Amino acid sequence: AFATDTTGDLRKVDNVAHRGASAYAPENTIAAFDKAVEMKADYIEIDVQRSKDGKLVVIHDTTVDRTTDGSGRVGNLTFEELRNLDAGGWKGEQFAGAQIPTFDEVLDRYHGKIGILIELKAPELYSGIEENLAKKLKERHLDKPQNAKIIVQSFNHNSMKKMNKLLPKVPIGVLTSSSTDTTEQALQEFSTYADYFNPSYGIVTPDLVNQVHSLGMKIGSWTVRSQETAKFLLDVGVDAIITDYPDYVDPRN
Ligand code: G3P
Ligand code: CA
Repeated sequence: AFATDTTGDLRKVDNVAHRGASAYAPENTIAAFDKAVEMKADYIEIDVQRSKDGKLVVIHDTTVDRTTDGSGRVGNLTFEELRNLDAGGWKGEQFAGAQIPTFDEVLDRYHGKIGILIELKAPELYSGIEENLAKKLKERHLDKPQNAKIIVQSFNHNSMKKMNKLLPKVPIGVLTSSSTDTTEQALQEFSTYADYFNPSYGIVTPDLVNQVHSLGMKIGSWTVRSQETAKFLLDVGVDAIITDYPDYVDPRN
């Protein structure tokens, strides 16, 4: 997507499909990611956790209750148990039978087709998940600077510090919805290891955008579910908009 800045120049804004095009298909499923590709989003955003037996899977909540027909904690279920769940039916009959994707599957199916914004969800529950993720990216040679369309982010900032040590060339994002993370000092500290500062839109101000940019970071904001919020973020000059509705971001729509 493009937005016009104050000088009238076109500025690139990355359109990031939050958990895929999750307004239109069940979040964090192949259907939602395919829809994002079809809608010409620039990135898909995915949430990564780990099964009891050590497989990386793509699901948002730390339990399977809301988005599948099962119950229990993701980390207490084996990969086979997770794979047997229906992760689509809750969103509509036409999606019934969709499986929880594996991280491998998402990398293999989408890398090169669309950018991937990888969120480590609650990494404090999955000891060593940073190493697991680093290994997957290295195996595919996705840890090099030319592969700029892979970003790793988390609300767990220590985990992202660690990620930056493991994968120094992969862009790192700090997620927050707390204004205590927008002080000069906090932002300065983030800039020592992060490339993106990704706040919820409620704490975004023009001044924050300027501060983040002066520290050499980019800013991506979430979660856009209205045209009004999309317009606010386009106007304030963020670099990426994370949205359930990829069609709301393109100012030409
Ligand atoms: O990418 C930003 C956004 O995904 C963070 O919140 O809860 O949707 O993972 P959440
Ligand atoms: Ca997320």
